[in-house]
Amino acid sequence: MLAYRHAFHAGNHADVLKHLVLVHVLRRMAAKDKPYTLIDTHAGAGGYALEGRYAQKKAEYRNGIGRLWDRTALPEPLADYVNVVRSFNPDGRLTQYPGSPAIASVLLRPTDPLHLFELHPSDYRALRSFLGRRPHTKVAMGDGFAALKGELPPASRRGVVLIDPSYELKGDYPKALSAVRETLSRFAQAVVLVWIPQVQLVEAAQLPRRVRAAADAAAPRGWLHALLTVQQADAQGFGLAGSHMIVINPPHGLLEDVRACLPFLVDALGQYDGARFVLEHHLP
Ligand SMILES: C[S@@+](CC[C@H](N)C(=O)[O-])C[C@H]1O[C@@H](n2cnc3c(N)ncnc32)[C@H](O)[C@@H]1O
Repeated sequence: MLAYRHAFHAGNHADVLKHLVLVHVLRRMAAKDKPYTLIDTHAGAGGYALEGRYAQKKAEYRNGIGRLWDRTALPEPLADYVNVVRSFNPDGRLTQYPGSPAIASVLLRPTDPLHLFELHPSDYRALRSFLGRRPHTKVAMGDGFAALKGELPPASRRGVVLIDPSYELKGDYPKALSAVRETLSRFAQAVVLVWIPQVQLVEAAQLPRRVRAAADAAAPRGWLHALLTVQQADAQGFGLAGSHMIVINPPHGLLEDVRACLPFLVDALGQYDGARFVLEHHLP
């Protein structure tokens, strides 16, 4: 049984980067009338109670969304993401954090299919009771890596694939790369989002370059790669220093959305002098 539960980490700095990018990918996909399918291979529970036992254990959200909650003069794309989180906290207190499925539930149009995969039985049950009755929605308990093959290309012929593993098992690193290659070989136009932790592991250090190379080989609309580093690893080399988001075939305008926010995020979320961002892209 996997030990990872996203509830421990909900709303942390990595979720901020991931969900900022997700919000703007979904907004830009909705700019065209034609429906698109969102496939979330590692969906989690859907949403998280920040006052719950898990989220309170290390209260990671306090150094993530918590640092943005009362800030004013946010760059517009960042304010948009925070407002999406606010829509789950209508009384103004930060008590709920939306996971990727909850964010999708407010940004997808009713006719945009949503396909969610989650392996952990408890998170799967929470996800199913949250979104199982949404039209055009599949909620499946199973291995999202293995399921991907059967999902592509989607009937809608427009699609976003979010690959957001917990990387609890080292095998997740090569599987994430295979999932990217498999996706592009079946559906070269897919907009693929890959989240990668910045941790002291050779697999984690190599994966961003490998994902970019896979995109160079097969994606017609290139890629963008954002890295946000907020803290130092501890003396033993453990800890999540930051995270990468790579978007393959990014929608037009996404680069500007992300570029407008990263300096502010370094300032707001940085926990040491070395906090920084890197934004690279190859957009043919
Ligand atoms: C980082 S969390 C996902 C967070 C979610 N995407 C979000 O943004 O709110 C990773 C999730 O993947 C689940 N998981 C782990 N291995 C899996 C697999 N092979 N297939 C599907 N889900 C898996 C874990 O139980 C965990 O809930």
